Amino acid sequence: MPTHPTDRRQLLRLAAATATTLWLPRSAWSLARLRHNPFALGVASGAPTHDGVVLWTRLAFEQAQGAEFTLRWEVANDEGFTRIARSGQVQAVPALGHAVHAEVAGLEPDRWYFYRFMLGEAVSPVGRTRTFPRPDASPARLRLGYASCQRWEHGYYAAWRHMRAEQLDAVMFLGDYIYEYPGAQQAVRAVTGGWVRTLDEYRARYALHRSDADLQAMHAACPWLPTWDDHEVQNDYAGLHEGTGVPLLGTVDDFPARRAAAYQAWYENMPVRAAMLTQGLAGLARGAELRIYQQVPFGRLASLHLLDGRQYRDRQPCLKDGQPGGRLVDPAKCREWADPQRSYLGAAQEQWLDGTLARSGGRWNVIGQQTLFGPRDAQPGPGQRLWNDGWDGYAGNRKRVTDALQRHAVSNPVLLGGDVHENWVGHVKADYADATSATVGVEFCGTSISSRASASAVEKTPERLAENPHFVFGDAQYRGYGVAEFTPGRLTTTLRAVQDATKADSDAFTLARFEVAAGRPRIERQ
Ligand SMILES: [Fe+2]
Repeated sequence: MPTHPTDRRQLLRLAAATATTLWLPRSAWSLARLRHNPFALGVASGAPTHDGVVLWTRLAFEQAQGAEFTLRWEVANDEGFTRIARSGQVQAVPALGHAVHAEVAGLEPDRWYFYRFMLGEAVSPVGRTRTFPRPDASPARLRLGYASCQRWEHGYYAAWRHMRAEQLDAVMFLGDYIYEYPGAQQAVRAVTGGWVRTLDEYRARYALHRSDADLQAMHAACPWLPTWDDHEVQNDYAGLHEGTGVPLLGTVDDFPARRAAAYQAWYENMPVRAAMLTQGLAGLARGAELRIYQQVPFGRLASLHLLDGRQYRDRQPCLKDGQPGGRLVDPAKCREWADPQRSYLGAAQEQWLDGTLARSGGRWNVIGQQTLFGPRDAQPGPGQRLWNDGWDGYAGNRKRVTDALQRHAVSNPVLLGGDVHENWVGHVKADYADATSATVGVEFCGTSISSRASASAVEKTPERLAENPHFVFGDAQYRGYGVAEFTPGRLTTTLRAVQDATKADSDAFTLARFEVAAGRPRIERQ
């Protein structure tokens, strides 16, 4: 029997109750029935503040069906758990897929901790996490990893294994944690379960990913700040408009219900706060909003802004015969393209972003979002061909963002992105059509963890660089991740690549390294 998305208000009540209260079940769990490791999906942490963090796990064993469990959690100063800083209990309930989100408060600022869960005699793997500095503190350094696009069938997660050695303070995950597809040509490994369309299917796809030891280990290494892109729901969806999939197999009659199920599964499987659900109450009428855009301070050194470019966007412009699906468009042949009213972020998020940028006290303003920010014209020479599913399809909104960066004199903007499965590094321009216009920030769009680039991408990179001079570096050959290290005076971004993502034991190497001096948005290759 498929599980239906939980009633919205019930979901809110459950999420709030399980995350923050000692809400004990009536019946005790019999330990004798624990035949399997309940912690096979690992542990994770996220949503760090200066005094707290969310601890996550999800029970995975067949007897879990229908039952409720009470877990204990511990946060310690040492890996041996001899000096416990905080401890508590948290509930795993079927309506939330037996995922638990323990919202821990009362920790010391700017320090590392160890954590674990216990269910009966079973003890989870130990995770390591940290609090962020106080908002008024002046930390000397932030090492932030960024990554996206980990299609299971396309490769192994050697990139996550190498990222573990980077001594990161946090990871920004920028979308495509899962893909909804039933498989791939020349699959490196098989997905289970076919097309992903229902709550149970989304849950199963997340569980498949979390079974991977390298991904688990990276979740256990530091807190994550996740956002999503399209494949957490469906390829190229836009707001409440369906995207693409093989008819009948990859599509559904009721897309808003599918999106609600996908969002619930994302909430269940990410180390995020229940407030994401409650803040979204206003969106009830138009279908299960999950308010994931947010700003997180790392002291005064950096303001981390996470955007949601999927949930509230208008439909892509210039669709072929009105059918969904991203495509390259000649803007001169489509009047809709130039409509400045169209929004990528939606009115409420645009307004929020303008306000949060205006008030930001961060020396560096890191904007983590889904995709390439600067234009990428695919037509060499005269004329243009632009991708309608990215910022290029929402150029009016992009201009409002760059205008806000200028108007509020935002300190050192740094755009991080994903989606394109290629590394692109460039300058953010006040007016991309005018190369002499002010440079207002820098952009590092990362490659994928494992998802393939398109077949012709490698050979086309040189001509695309020549055609789009605001970009200073492009590479479509390698999968991997980025590390952005911020100090008060300097940003150093290192692009790390795995030699061959189809090999679990692949080596990694540094593909390129760039520096940006604070106060001067100019990318210098090292
Ligand atoms: Fe992707």
